[in-house]
Amino acid sequence: MLFNKSVLISSCVFALATVASAAPTPADTTIDGYTAAVIDTRRFCLFLPFEAGGSISQNEDMAFSFCTASLSQAPRAMVRPAGVMPAGFIKSTHLVKTDNYVQLTGRINRSAYKLSKNDSGGQYDPKAPLGSSCAGYNYFVQLIEPDVQIYCIRCCKNKSDCPTDNSTRGCKAVLGGNYS
Ligand SMILES: *[C@@H]1O[C@H](CO)[C@@H](O)[C@H](O)[C@H]1NC(C)=O
Ligand SMILES: *[C@@H]1O[C@H](CO)[C@@H](O)[C@H](O)[C@H]1NC(C)=O
Ligand SMILES: *[C@@H]1O[C@H](CO)[C@@H](O)[C@H](O)[C@H]1NC(C)=O
Ligand SMILES: *[C@@H]1O[C@H](CO)[C@@H](O)[C@H](O)[C@H]1NC(C)=O
Repeated sequence: MLFNKSVLISSCVFALATVASAAPTPADTTIDGYTAAVIDTRRFCLFLPFEAGGSISQNEDMAFSFCTASLSQAPRAMVRPAGVMPAGFIKSTHLVKTDNYVQLTGRINRSAYKLSKNDSGGQYDPKAPLGSSCAGYNYFVQLIEPDVQIYCIRCCKNKSDCPTDNSTRGCKAVLGGNYS
C-alpha cells in the first residue's frame, strides 16, 4: 500500500520551543519522518512500519520515524516525526557513544506494535527508506528483529562504522552490543 507521505507527516507537527541543549548536533537539525535520532536513552527516534503489525522487511521503503514521547514533546525541538514510539514497545536501551558514532541496542516487546513472532526482521538505512538519515550524523544502520525481540541502531560519521551490507545477519552480528 502507498501512503501520501507529506500528509502523514504534516499531520503530526509538534510545537517548537526551547530545548536547544536537547537537540542533536548540529543543534538545528530537523527531525522529520525520514530522520532517525539517538540523543540519549530517553530521546531517540527509530524507523518502524507506518502501520502497527507491518512487516519490517516489506516496509523497508515505507518506514517512518517514531520518536520517544520525551523527544516528540520537547518544546522547541525541531521534531516532526511520523509518530510517537508505541507505548511499551522499547523494553531496554543500551547506549554506546564514541567520537565516531552513537549506538542504541536493546529489547522490544513486539506485541506493543503488533509485530509478528514470525517476522525475522530487516534493516533500515539511507537507501531504505530512500533519503532517510540520522540527525547529526552522515550514515546510519538500524535493524529490528521481531522474532527474537531485539533492535539496534548506529549513527556514524564514517560509512565504515555503519555497515549496511549484512542486513540478513541481524543486530548481534552486524553491530554487537548489549541486548539484555
Ligand atoms: C507486551 O505488550 C503487550 C501488548 O501491549 C502486553 O499485553 C504485554 O503485557 C507486554 N509484555 C511485556 C513482557 O511487557
Ligand atoms: C506464524 O507461523 C506459524 C507457522 O507457519 C503460523 O501457524 C502462525 O499463524 C504464524 N503466526 C503469525 C502471528 O503470523
Ligand atoms: C572518520 O572520518 C574522519 C574524516 O572523514 C577521519 O578523520 C577519521 O579518521 C575517520 N575515523 C575512522 C574511525 O575511520
Ligand atoms: C558482511 O558479510 C560478509 C560476508 O559474510 C563479510 O565478508 C563481511 O566482513 C561482513 N561485513 C561486516 C561489516 O560484518
